[in-house]
Amino acid sequence: MRIAVVGSGYVGLVAGACFADLGHEVVLVDNDQDKLAALRNGQVPIHEKFLPELLGRHRGKRLTFSDDLKEAARLSSAVFVAVGTPPTEKGDADLSYVESVAREISGGIEDYKVVIEKSTVPVYTSEWVRKIILRNGTEAEAFDVASNPEFLREGTAVTDFLFPDRILIGCDNERAAAVLREIYEPMTSGDYYRRSDAIPGPDRARIPPPIIVTSTKSAELIKHASNAFLAMKISFINAVASVCESVGADVNQVVHGVGSDSRIGPRFLNPGIGYGGSCFPKDVMAFRAVARESGHDFRLLDEVMRINEEQRQRFLRKIHSALWTLRGKQLGVLGLAFKGGTDDIRESPAIFLVQALLQEGSKITAYDPAAMERAREVLGNRVAFAESSYEAARGADALLILTEWEEFANLDLNRLRQELRYPIVIDGRNLYDPEVMSAQGFTYYSVGRAACHPDGVPAALKNGKKV
Ligand code: UGA
Repeated sequence: MRIAVVGSGYVGLVAGACFADLGHEVVLVDNDQDKLAALRNGQVPIHEKFLPELLGRHRGKRLTFSDDLKEAARLSSAVFVAVGTPPTEKGDADLSYVESVAREISGGIEDYKVVIEKSTVPVYTSEWVRKIILRNGTEAEAFDVASNPEFLREGTAVTDFLFPDRILIGCDNERAAAVLREIYEPMTSGDYYRRSDAIPGPDRARIPPPIIVTSTKSAELIKHASNAFLAMKISFINAVASVCESVGADVNQVVHGVGSDSRIGPRFLNPGIGYGGSCFPKDVMAFRAVARESGHDFRLLDEVMRINEEQRQRFLRKIHSALWTLRGKQLGVLGLAFKGGTDDIRESPAIFLVQALLQEGSKITAYDPAAMERAREVLGNRVAFAESSYEAARGADALLILTEWEEFANLDLNRLRQELRYPIVIDGRNLYDPEVMSAQGFTYYSVGRAACHPDGVPAALKNGKKV
């Protein structure tokens, strides 16, 4: 099928490359000429596993790039809208990009097509897109508007797309549903997974993935409710972690016990320094605004956001309680991205903490396997950037772990201890076992677990903490 994907951000670029891998003819539309030129030249603008491979396979063949939306729409049977929906000052989603795309598409509709929302949008958006296309002179029979939200996570976006838990199709008639079913047919029939060149899937992959067909409005709501629920899970466990700290329980043990209930499940119950990224903070706020507009005061979501804010502040207080004053202290920082596996620093709790520590007069040497270039644009030369975790730790008064990159969980602890000025690790992602750290000679602070100190350290140096 000929498909246009509008917007070459994370979702658009990954969806376009994956549709091409499924065998479709895809044109990726963007109005950013520099981005288009870079994509045409073989550059891969985001750090995403398997994306370079897919772009390499299909670029210039089944995947082309254009700035002519009207023409791309004219030539395609399905037009996916994956443009940004950033938050306004009020916290609701700014849908002006979606509206201008709808306006432009209407000029390219000659024969029947389906216009499909891929971005995360509030529940009434499909109705508006429909109205805008009609208002610009397109016949009602010439198009349908559908919603096909994406549940991909940055860092694992390609495999999340190709091996999803479900494919969600929101549309209001069978004609539009048939187009979407056809697009995903290589996945739902299992054909894609039998190909020798298929991208390898994760262990838990559900093959073939089930399709869920709902009304357009339900699909729009499912996306917002899913992200809000996941954010709620994280805030919930972070609040439980705080209780654990007060009463001397171990949050990791609590997560194991709670998450073993199959009705709850263990995923998205990792405590830490709060959620960040371009989705959860924006989507929880936008869903809150949607609820308010529809007359429902969804205050649970306020609390989810409040706990998330508080979690960063608690971590700052923890750094204080470990190090006393911060002015002039040399701190090694591991991780700047909002989570592991990505170079994205949008709404990154790690960046927030680094800025707060700089404000307090600390000196910081940071290392991140992928996000340093982007971090440099925000932090400039106020931070020194290291080439490795050990270099970040060199001569530091303490090491802070702020992003859950796998390589940070596998450090050579002997070497780390030798690099640090004082063997103090303050771990915002619970990557280490406190007993191991203690046996290895570290003072170790983490989230929702008691601080621990090197075996054999005199009580006076234990900062009054229970070991
Ligand atoms: C999220 C959703 O997980 C995707 O399903 C959704 O498609 C996407 O938003 C979107 O709407 O586009 P993403 O923002 O890439 O994906 O990242 P997540 O893996 O969900 O992590 C979000 C934040 O929560 C990160 O800061 C991460 O460190 C934090 N987190 C996650 C925790 O603190 N604890 C956890 O247990 C899980």
